[in-house]
Amino acid sequence: MGVKRKVFLLSVYLQFLIIAAVTNDNDFVILKALKDDIWENEPPNWKNNDPCGDNWEGIGCTNSRVTSITLSGMGLKGQLSGDITGLTELHTLDLSNNKDLRGPLPTTIGNLKKLSNLMLVGCSFSGPIPDSIGSLQELVLLSLNSNGFSGRVPPSIGNLSNLYWLDLTDNKLEGEIPVSDGNSPGLDMLVRAKHFHFGKNQLSGSIPEKLFRPDMVLIHVLFDSNNLTGELPDTLGLVKSLEVVRFDRNSLSGPVPSNLNNLTSVNELYLSNNKLTGAMPNLTGLSVLSYLDMSNNSFDASEVPSWFSSMQSLTTLMMENTNLEGQIPANLFSIPHLQTVVMKTNELNGTLDLGTSYSENLLVNLQNNRISAYTERGGAPAVKLTLIDNPICQELGTAKGYCQLSQPISPYSTKQKNCLPAPCNANQSSSPNCQCAYPYTGTLVFRSLSFSDLGNTTYYEILEQNVTTSFQSTYKLPIDSISLSYPHKNNFEYLELSIQFFPSGQERFNRTGVSSVGFVLSNQIYSPPPLFGPMFFNGDQYQYFAESGGSNKSTSIGVIIGAAAAGCVVLLLLLFAGVYAYHQKRRAEKANEQNPFAHWDMNKSSGSIPQLKGARCFSFEEVKKYTNNFSDANDVGSGGYGKVYKGTLPNGQLIAIKRAQQGSMQGGQEFKMEIELLSRVHHKNLVSLLGFCFDRGEQMLIYEFVPNGSLGDSLSGKNGIRLDWIRRLKIALGAARGLSYLHELANPPIIHRDIKSSNILLDERLNAKVADFGLSKSMSDSEKDHITTQVKGTMGYLDPEYYMTQQLTEKSDVYSFGVLMLELLTGRRPIERGKYIVREIRTVMDKKKELYNLYELIDPTIGLSTTLKGFEKYVDLALKCVQESGDDRPTMSEVVKDIENILQQAGLNPNAESASSSASYEDASKGNFHHPYCNEEGFDYGYSGGFPTSKIEPQ
Ligand SMILES: *[C@@H]1O[C@H](CO)[C@@H](O)[C@H](O)[C@H]1NC(C)=O
Ligand SMILES: *[C@@H]1O[C@H](CO)[C@@H](O)[C@H](O)[C@H]1NC(C)=O
Ligand SMILES: *[C@@H]1O[C@H](CO)[C@@H](O)[C@H](O)[C@H]1NC(C)=O
Ligand SMILES: *[C@@H]1O[C@H](CO)[C@@H](O)[C@H](O)[C@H]1NC(C)=O
Repeated sequence: MGVKRKVFLLSVYLQFLIIAAVTNDNDFVILKALKDDIWENEPPNWKNNDPCGDNWEGIGCTNSRVTSITLSGMGLKGQLSGDITGLTELHTLDLSNNKDLRGPLPTTIGNLKKLSNLMLVGCSFSGPIPDSIGSLQELVLLSLNSNGFSGRVPPSIGNLSNLYWLDLTDNKLEGEIPVSDGNSPGLDMLVRAKHFHFGKNQLSGSIPEKLFRPDMVLIHVLFDSNNLTGELPDTLGLVKSLEVVRFDRNSLSGPVPSNLNNLTSVNELYLSNNKLTGAMPNLTGLSVLSYLDMSNNSFDASEVPSWFSSMQSLTTLMMENTNLEGQIPANLFSIPHLQTVVMKTNELNGTLDLGTSYSENLLVNLQNNRISAYTERGGAPAVKLTLIDNPICQELGTAKGYCQLSQPISPYSTKQKNCLPAPCNANQSSSPNCQCAYPYTGTLVFRSLSFSDLGNTTYYEILEQNVTTSFQSTYKLPIDSISLSYPHKNNFEYLELSIQFFPSGQERFNRTGVSSVGFVLSNQIYSPPPLFGPMFFNGDQYQYFAESGGSNKSTSIGVIIGAAAAGCVVLLLLLFAGVYAYHQKRRAEKANEQNPFAHWDMNKSSGSIPQLKGARCFSFEEVKKYTNNFSDANDVGSGGYGKVYKGTLPNGQLIAIKRAQQGSMQGGQEFKMEIELLSRVHHKNLVSLLGFCFDRGEQMLIYEFVPNGSLGDSLSGKNGIRLDWIRRLKIALGAARGLSYLHELANPPIIHRDIKSSNILLDERLNAKVADFGLSKSMSDSEKDHITTQVKGTMGYLDPEYYMTQQLTEKSDVYSFGVLMLELLTGRRPIERGKYIVREIRTVMDKKKELYNLYELIDPTIGLSTTLKGFEKYVDLALKCVQESGDDRPTMSEVVKDIENILQQAGLNPNAESASSSASYEDASKGNFHHPYCNEEGFDYGYSGGFPTSKIEPQ
């Protein structure tokens, strides 16, 4: 092969020697070889013979020599052959986020003597990292993370005396950490390095004493999720510059060296999931420590160290399974910015007292201890407390909120600015500034954080602001805005955050735009605010380059054609070609029916094509594991389509899995549609889709778990939740807001088609969440007014106009919602004993009488002793919604406004959470009610139709 390649190069060389103008001949020949012979999908403007003179995309030149190649996220395929090492003036090589670049690194890579920045993040390279890498004397940044590199960490890296950033995370590296010994170099020689990122490998052996020296300037040392054994060396305490230290998820043993207490700059310290022994270390010296995780170690039994309470910067204290005993000192909780205290599975006992001066929304998880009492203090801030598996909860059953499983935080996604999103074409998204465009998507991965309250949106807003200003003003990149969504921690305690970059002033990025965004992130030019720790960017492949030779002129022509087509041309198309197009589409759909995801990259978790905002693909094995092999105990309900299982993700988040049974599978297309629809909508009053499984002939949808089951179950008294008037108003408001979002803000707008009480779920605070989009229809541009479709839905809720004309509009949902309002009022099914609720109300109603003469029909559990504030307005509104003609019904946003007004008149803030604090429950229980979440018979969440219902474990 070597010989063949040489012959090839030589012939090309001779051929172009004379023609190539500006570019150095040798460099041109090499690029030409890469283009013709080695890579696929190189930029289309790589033609003619002068890469420098013709501005080949991704190629940077200085004095006719190629000095940089920046092709991040271009969809390149192929290998990194040895040819490239002939580009001897190259100082920057960024091929990150090209998942189809594979094979080994050439051993000749050491020839690139001028190379200073080498970034191959998130490709599929494999094999050993060549020793010759140690010859790259100019190297300052080496990022080979998220590939499949194997073998040892080459000791020669120790020769890279200028290196400041070393990232080998997430590979298959094994063997010991190399340190120098007389003959052989090692990592201890990297005295300029600030970043050692080695997490998620298979490094073994003990951590050499020699690895750390006092003259080092390291700030991030990450060796988490390896296979390291032995003790933590006390030399670690010599590196005073350290800020983030992770040695969690190894097999380290022995005591924590006492001089770690000298590391006064450490912000985040993770030592969890090891076999550390000895006394709990005294870390009082870490005066700026914000995140401490020492969970799952074998420390000597001890009381909760009193010095914890003196750690004034602490946000997060993770001490699960660490042999703590005795009573927790109350002053621990008064640390000013404390967000999370997890001390599960210890021997803590006595009475829990949180005091009164803890921060709002503090999360305290003390599951599985021996706590026998809890001092509840009136007027104390809200707290998310868990005391399950403590004697106190064995006594109380589930009477108290803190004896129930708590709900994970609600998902975040960037809000639209003050603007109305226009409907966008398929695959486009609406930017926060309401511009339709094809965003460049990917995932930001943070390997450490100084906070733990992922529900606090301020953090993401700070990041949004920071990224946007840096990219626009500092790096001058063509970014209109960015959108963040679905923050969550993965199994390795890394925060993952989906990101969309929207192009500025046009609807798609050109290649330079995408590769520049990737470069700024992979080259660590952008660094996030200090709250967020070390970061990398996992970019998806961008599918929307204007494919026309890449010159600006043709791009804009393409855009113009596109825009025109979206307007009047569509009419012509519809008239003359509609039938043909429809048939073609059907044929294509048929062909795809078998596996609608055939063209998706199932390995990429998010953002693949079609765009799944936040949703990820689960393998069958994963789901099986999370549901305990689909055990009966996890089965929380069933319906016509199959079963609903409860499951737990490795990060503890509860999920509901809707598993279609054989025979009731949707067509692949329908299944895909549901996923696409659901993954696109994010609103607190809509059940969020977390992912799906389309594997081994199974179709499963994975949702957030909504703990209080369906509204239907509450109304029928099945689940023991008592809904008073105000709660019903708030549920109506929540459901209306969810629907209004679907109709007016989702893009494209969505008609639900099956609004009914079993499709409204209630979360732990009784906030309504609209579920089941299985029958939903999204409206594309050309169908702005209505969709003609086969009538589906549920009898009793069905809009008669839709039934007659088969024309589905948003007003059909409004009708069903009106029926739902009447159901909320009466507690009756829409059709019960042959009587139709709408007709009943209309017949009995007399506006001149008190309560419109509807006494008999009002659900007695509402409690008629209290005045039903806004009752008449409510009935008026419900009846407006069920007008015969759609035109006479209000829109959902008008419905929202009306219900808000009713709540306001009742003296309530419509924007407060449904059950805004546990205090309101205390009041209720004093007033001689049952606790609203339970009844004497315990819980019966037997399930009847709809999805995803849920069951609160009896304890
Ligand atoms: C980690 O080390 C243990 C024992 O030292 C070994 O049994 C295990 O296979 C190793 N795991 C990996 C992934 O190398
Ligand atoms: C660091 O810790 C060690 C042991 O705990 C101690 O002897 C030493 O004086 C401390 N201070 C410095 C500046 O190294
Ligand atoms: C912890 O160490 C500090 C010095 O850094 C010392 O003042 C304090 O007494 C120690 N606390 C305990 C409980 O050992
Ligand atoms: C709590 O545990 C400690 C240590 O195990 C024990 O000495 C103490 O008596 C216990 N207190 C209560 C109230 O059970």
